[in-house]
Amino acid sequence: MHDPKSETATLHAGGASMQAPLLKGTMGPDVADLRGIQQNLGIFSFDPGLTGTATCTSKITFIDGDAGTLLHRGYPIEDLALNASFTETAYLLLYGELPTTPQYQAFQADMNTHRLLNEQIRNFFNGFRRDAHPMAILCGTVGALSAFYHDGLDISQAEDRDLSARRLIAKVPTIAAWAYKYSIGEPFIYPDEEMSFSENFLHMLFARPGNHYRVNPVLARAMDRILLLHADHEQNASTTTVRLVGSTGANPYACISAGIAALWGPAHGGANEAALNMLQSIGTREGIPSFLEQVKDKNSSVRLMGFGHRVYKNFDPRAKILQATCHEVISELGLERDPLLDLAKELERVATEDDYFVSRKLYPNVDFYSGLILKALGIPTSMFTVLFAVARTVGWVSQWKEMIEDPAGRITRPRQLYVGETKREFVSMSDRG
Ligand code: ACO
Repeated sequence: MHDPKSETATLHAGGASMQAPLLKGTMGPDVADLRGIQQNLGIFSFDPGLTGTATCTSKITFIDGDAGTLLHRGYPIEDLALNASFTETAYLLLYGELPTTPQYQAFQADMNTHRLLNEQIRNFFNGFRRDAHPMAILCGTVGALSAFYHDGLDISQAEDRDLSARRLIAKVPTIAAWAYKYSIGEPFIYPDEEMSFSENFLHMLFARPGNHYRVNPVLARAMDRILLLHADHEQNASTTTVRLVGSTGANPYACISAGIAALWGPAHGGANEAALNMLQSIGTREGIPSFLEQVKDKNSSVRLMGFGHRVYKNFDPRAKILQATCHEVISELGLERDPLLDLAKELERVATEDDYFVSRKLYPNVDFYSGLILKALGIPTSMFTVLFAVARTVGWVSQWKEMIEDPAGRITRPRQLYVGETKREFVSMSDRG
């Protein structure tokens, strides 16, 4: 029972009662503090999926799904996407404030020196099959980084935490790009310290010795925007994984590797790939009506991928920004006549005018447009989740640092509702029939 006038929520169970203090954030709903529930009432709370549970306090990201609001350290995502770079946003997420010019320059210069990998890490790649999924290579190689960077592993020291955080943000793109190069049998391109984060990333992906690849600034800006829009998203599954692993005191490379593993799941990082596959299966504009009939059919499980969101029920603020970027990239590359992109535009138009989607407040989400942009940039679908990991590393390390620095932090150790056998006698094998 939650009495809005009181500062506590009263819970009753089996004749006993307890006053759960209502914790007040700076924004968002109050949170009932249930830490004393076992001690006071002798019960646990049951919340599979943790959908109604706050597992930590955080100052990093705020989401109001009904209002379509996403704030990083208080700044609206729209303002950051239109005015700041991915690196500037990384600084904001890590340190809580936008950098001054000297702070930004020093951060960028330091980060750029961390892009290079220890030369021995090259050897890891040869251990993978050429057709290995780049997420497998990323997950394994990031997990192994602690074997190379022994300094920076004393997580009780602020300088060590900072060094590891910077290394991770700077090195994950190099591993990601090399995983791609390895899969297509091309030589690795070393990072360029003079380039911006996104220019360097595109360069490592697409340059070849001898092809004099020049990074197109419009495409670099689009990449920067995609990365910025995916940098953090509160306590999602992979971030919760990073915090959970981090709560045991594991080293930061192991924590981020665990986050990458969680992101790999199709229910989390794979939706833009699924949206693109859906477009390919629809095939042509003529296929749209029959596809939408299937989507609307109560007896079918087909969904319009790239539409709808668990948290954003009116619109996804990131999708609005990417929609404009998507059109910019298509026109820069002269892809207006690309059949798949043309199909996507038509599907977007038809669905956003269709009463089924309008009445259920289903709008294109960030994955609908990010998949299209990445496809236009020439990035294969197997790399989509890898790119997401490059971006989200910023959020993961920021949240990991915040967790380690929280004096109230404890090892995450949930309980369960046991529904198995009650205590029974052991039967020796010879008597089991
Ligand atoms: N296509 C068709 N119908 C849909 C879709 C969709 N994509 N999403 C929701 N609906 C319908 C449901 O069938 C339901 O209809 P009903 O009221 O007639 O039963 C209604 O809309 C409400 O749907 P819910 O399932 O309650 O919505 P929920 O919040 O659980 O789902 C989700 C959100 C999982 C994202 C869903 O919209 C979906 O599956 N979308 C497609 C996959 C996708 O794009 N995922 C990426 C999300 S963004 C991100 O992860 C960064």
